[in-house]
Amino acid sequence: MLILGIETSCDETAASVVQDGKKILSNVILSQLVHQKYGGVVPELASREHIKSLVPVTQKALEDGEVSLDQLDGIAVTFGPGLVGSLLMGLTFAKSVAFSKNKSLIGVNHLEGHLFSNFLEHEKFSPPFICLIISGGHTLLVYVKDKGQYELLGQTLDDAAGEAFDKVASLLNLGYPGGPLLDKTAQAGDRNFVKFPRGMLKPAKGRSASGGEDNFNFSFSGLKTAVALYVQKLSEAEMHKHLGDICASFQEAAVDVLVEKSIKAAEKKNCKTIAMAGGVACNSRLREKMKERASVLGIDIFYPSPLLCTDNAAMIAAVGDFRLSKGEKSDFNLKAVPYLKL
Ligand code: KG4
Ligand code: ZN
Repeated sequence: MLILGIETSCDETAASVVQDGKKILSNVILSQLVHQKYGGVVPELASREHIKSLVPVTQKALEDGEVSLDQLDGIAVTFGPGLVGSLLMGLTFAKSVAFSKNKSLIGVNHLEGHLFSNFLEHEKFSPPFICLIISGGHTLLVYVKDKGQYELLGQTLDDAAGEAFDKVASLLNLGYPGGPLLDKTAQAGDRNFVKFPRGMLKPAKGRSASGGEDNFNFSFSGLKTAVALYVQKLSEAEMHKHLGDICASFQEAAVDVLVEKSIKAAEKKNCKTIAMAGGVACNSRLREKMKERASVLGIDIFYPSPLLCTDNAAMIAAVGDFRLSKGEKSDFNLKAVPYLKL
């Protein structure tokens, strides 16, 4: 089957053609640069950029894949979660193309897309597995019993993991998007320089609730505040001198929580595979520490290459292939759902 995927849930306009849910024939991703000067995504500008880019990006995906619209079996499109304006652009475009060419329309959950990115890349990868989905908007720990069978084990109660990286990078004046810049700055730093809090990892003394053994939820706002309070006390010279150390210490605290909760989830579910997905899965220290911890326990770790970690349309096409091959397709009155759950 040949599926065209369309992804516009945030600030990437992406289109991709995937064959039989596995083989990526093309993968075009246009990251909108217009947001850089604002230090974050401006939703209205994102929608306008999608309108401008959807036709050329899709044309390029078809050309790169050497596929015509007539050859397609279906058009898969993200319908949530995401920014409502951005979602509507992709959804309206996909509906128009599918309707005019009499093709099947398959609405795809963006989170399921991230989860599928590992199937695209790894031959020897199959359920059951624990999936840690960590992006700019989401932090989820999911038990994947099989394709399409998901048990949500935990999620963030406040900031998403990527959001925490971006906000800390912004208060350290590293630029935007902050995650990759913080990762890079941390490489020269001492990760034990400051002991920042590991949110919800251990229960507070005398209390059993928040961070207990079986609690798979996350909280990153306390960590972000701890960095902000620490930085406030530093002079400009101290800040300059210890920038790498502060980045490395923050990163270590965030990574510790992500790794330990994933490992605990794998142990609880007696699962020997952990997969990571989403932009934060690019983080070098997270990849390293997850592998270190898992190898001792005989757990295999999978993560996609950076291009498939961050938002892309190949993962959307892969889900589309899976759904369409089960006979599932969407109505043309499909609505954008900004807070769609997995
Ligand atoms: O999956 P994604 O492209 O978009 C969403 O669906 O949100 O993820 C983007 C997020 C941003 O917060 C970005 O800062 C973060 O992923 N990110 C990283 C790294 N690369 C991207 N965070 C930490 N370390 C990285 N190397
Ligand atoms: Zn995403």
